[in-house]
Amino acid sequence: MENLQFFAFFFFLSIFIQISSAFTGPDSIFLSCGSSKSVTVEDRRVFVPDSHFLPYRDLSGSKVEILDGSDNGLVPVHYKTARIFSHPASYKFEMKKKGTHLLRFHFYPFASGSCDLSRARFHVVASRKVILLSDFEVGSGRKMAPSSRGCGFHMGRSSRMDNSDNKTGVEFVLKEYFISVDSPELEITFVPADRSSFAFINAIEVISASTLIPDIVRSMDSNGINKLSGMSKQEYEVLFRINTGGAKITPLNDTMWRNWVPDEDFVNYTANIGMKKIHFSGPIKYTEYGASREIAPGSVYRTARVMKIAKLVDSSVKKNMSWSFSVPSDYNYLVRLHFCDIASMVLNDLYFDIYLNGKIAYEDFDISTSSNLVLATPYYLDFVTHPDSSGRLVITIAASKSSKPSKVNGMLNGLEVMKLNNSAGNLDDEPMTMMMDGSDEGTPHVVLVFVRMFLTSAALFSIGFAGYMLVVRWRTVSHTSAGWSPLPASTPESCISLESSGKTIVQL
Ligand SMILES: *[C@@H]1O[C@H](CO)[C@@H](O)[C@H](O)[C@H]1NC(C)=O
Ligand SMILES: *[C@@H]1O[C@H](CO)[C@@H](O)[C@H](O)[C@H]1NC(C)=O
Ligand SMILES: *[C@@H]1O[C@H](CO)[C@@H](O)[C@H](O)[C@H]1NC(C)=O
Ligand SMILES: *[C@@H]1O[C@H](CO)[C@@H](O)[C@H](O)[C@H]1NC(C)=O
Ligand SMILES: *[C@@H]1O[C@H](CO)[C@@H](O)[C@H](O)[C@H]1NC(C)=O
Repeated sequence: MENLQFFAFFFFLSIFIQISSAFTGPDSIFLSCGSSKSVTVEDRRVFVPDSHFLPYRDLSGSKVEILDGSDNGLVPVHYKTARIFSHPASYKFEMKKKGTHLLRFHFYPFASGSCDLSRARFHVVASRKVILLSDFEVGSGRKMAPSSRGCGFHMGRSSRMDNSDNKTGVEFVLKEYFISVDSPELEITFVPADRSSFAFINAIEVISASTLIPDIVRSMDSNGINKLSGMSKQEYEVLFRINTGGAKITPLNDTMWRNWVPDEDFVNYTANIGMKKIHFSGPIKYTEYGASREIAPGSVYRTARVMKIAKLVDSSVKKNMSWSFSVPSDYNYLVRLHFCDIASMVLNDLYFDIYLNGKIAYEDFDISTSSNLVLATPYYLDFVTHPDSSGRLVITIAASKSSKPSKVNGMLNGLEVMKLNNSAGNLDDEPMTMMMDGSDEGTPHVVLVFVRMFLTSAALFSIGFAGYMLVVRWRTVSHTSAGWSPLPASTPESCISLESSGKTIVQL
């Protein structure tokens, strides 16, 4: 009996420790869209049904679920259902606290019966002003043909934030943002790209993250190095998150349920500079002077890539290690470098230079002093910079004038690349069309104005639509007719017609 109590005590203690190690900010909303019940995911978070977050008028969105047995049990539970919108619809989240929030969208374009989510094409807009995704097609992993403005770069499936499951060949697409919320409500609008298209979403996360984006950041441009303020009021899309020298880190092991991937695809092996991966098994010492556990978990700081050059040659070209990323060239980026001196035996042994696209960004970085003279203390540096004209962003760690020969003279533990909103306030191109027919000659400005007009009129439209749906419902009930003939011709027919087979439920 005592043993049992003892066991129970430790059982609950261990659960408590596991739960308390995760971040709990004022806002943490996890939605399983189109689901009728709450589901628990691998990392033990509970994703709740989305219906409470859709206004009455937008509950017209259909729900669809993956057919039993068609996924071999490999699809995570929050990807098995989706909400489909054939008209603009908005999720509304009441915020307990203003400031930066982490926003994640999960897309898994499954096919269920005759409804194929990979055929969806849509825009996603935050707070009625920030375009997060435009002409987004999850299934094909690419957007529409390059626009007349010559932006031929498409993230989609190639994005390193994507989480592909190689066992089944299925692809889950994860899109992640830091959004500045300055009102008590955050609104996320899904807009089908045209009349014959539709939008869908499997899961949404909204998490308080005001400590993750500082307000003042170093910037590096043609005028040199400056300080930029107001950075916590901007919008970001996370494009890359790398655990240099280490293994993949999943939401199970991260304080903010992030993914970090190994750096093999990005590291630039140049000359033989004695570059190697290191791993530290001692404790990581978080202090008030450095990075917090929310900035990055210990598993990021416990591994690194280092270089050790025996002979610091006096050639004009510095020995270095670098990582390069391909990004859309018409945006600015926040590059976050994570450091933790897990290589040195004593303080003040490690110094190096940091370059961005070949230009010096930080000279003679002294990690010991920066991390308040404690070894194994996490620290991070942020830089806002612009890629070269071909969209290449190169981060270089090079030996500096204070580097000591035969010691480690360069180190990097982690790296994040976040796209900053453009001067129009958007994170993706303005949509080429917004339910506009025929005219392919609209200038981007006109299109944007149209988008804004559209979004405001969407509310009015939806009220009308809700009324219409009531009539439809009444008719459906009274006629008990199969199929969805009363719906406008603009709906994605195969998805909506599932209604007759009972797989898709239109709620009112
Ligand atoms: C699956 O993994 C193997 C080996 O890890 C790799 O060669 C192959 O390209 C991967 N396939 C896809 C579709 O990613
Ligand atoms: C991640 O968490 C799991 C379960 O808690 C653990 O077994 C694993 O070792 C962790 N991995 C890392 C890299 O910390
Ligand atoms: C690595 O760096 C060298 C020298 O800067 C460059 O020529 C090469 O293209 C880079 N390789 C990759 C894969 O980026
Ligand atoms: C890094 O090394 C490569 C290859 O030696 C060289 O081309 C490049 O200029 C170096 N970068 C810096 C910033 O010194
Ligand atoms: C981001 O958008 C805001 C307005 O919403 C603007 O003030 C700011 O300059 C934009 N950022 C960039 C880097 O253009």
